[in-house]
Amino acid sequence: MNAELKFDGGYRERIELPGGERVRLRLIQPDDKALLLAEFRQLLAQSRARRFLGGKQVLSEAELHYFTEIDQVDHFAIGAVALDARGRECDGVAVGRFVRLSGEPRCAEVGIAIADRLQGKGLGLLLLKRLAEAAQERGFERLRFEYLADNIGMHSLIKHAGRIVERQNSDGVIAVAIELPVGDDVTWRPSLDAFDNMFLLMHGAFQDSLRMQFDWGLGAMYLALDAVWAQTRYWNASPCGWQQARQNGCTFARVHAGPASEH
Ligand SMILES: CC(C)(COP(=O)(O)OP(=O)(O)OC[C@H]1O[C@@H](n2cnc3c(N)ncnc32)[C@H](O)[C@@H]1OP(=O)(O)O)[C@@H](O)C(=O)NCCC(=O)NCCS
Repeated sequence: MNAELKFDGGYRERIELPGGERVRLRLIQPDDKALLLAEFRQLLAQSRARRFLGGKQVLSEAELHYFTEIDQVDHFAIGAVALDARGRECDGVAVGRFVRLSGEPRCAEVGIAIADRLQGKGLGLLLLKRLAEAAQERGFERLRFEYLADNIGMHSLIKHAGRIVERQNSDGVIAVAIELPVGDDVTWRPSLDAFDNMFLLMHGAFQDSLRMQFDWGLGAMYLALDAVWAQTRYWNASPCGWQQARQNGCTFARVHAGPASEH
């Protein structure tokens, strides 16, 4: 690997999180398999699902090999390891990695997982900054993220990551690509595109509530149709024909829509 890289085998960074926990950042090594496995096992089901975009119960030997035996160029990973009182490494608490996309060699796909007890303390954002710097060092121009549409933490994280240049949505999974600053400047320069971020947040909210809105919309539509439909048929019988028709159970919805579905 290039000797001038900041993020090489000798990279060490010591940080203290709010709450006092001390953590070391360093590159993942082949003998980190046990740490990685223990960290995976401690992740709550929701965090696992968010990291791996679905229910994942185990890490196989092959996966452990894939996650630790890496070249730190095409596949790069930083681990965060908690330090004990003597400054010795104990638990693995976070991993951030990127992998070069075969069809788009200047772009890398990012995966991040923070131990549940340390989420919301700034570690995810710090890891993402370091990943972006390392990616720039290695000549990448874009980072790509795939995450579940309800992953608000990831929405928030990405808004700090750079200018959004691409977004897609498929089956509840959002894919976003951000552009890294190019050239020699490898300093962290967050660029917030307010419209993109608003879109992401609205998109997640819209998707979650789409079904609810649809149900409400359908209900309102049937109510309106009931009023018009029954009134035209029952007006002669009574000036309050619509209410009378509904009391008799004779509505547009009943006649035209069949039995209501059970939820
Ligand atoms: C998503 C994840 C990486 C975020 O890391 P983190 O350390 O918890 O996040 P940070 O503390 O650095 O916070 C970064 C930003 O996200 C926001 N944030 C983090 N978690 C959040 C949550 N659950 N809800 C709302 N905002 C959240 C923070 O407020 C902060 O935004 P701000 O600076 O505008 O206030 C982390 O929660 C995680 O590992 N989740 C499980 C795995 C996962 O979702 N991976 C992503 C798919 S690869």
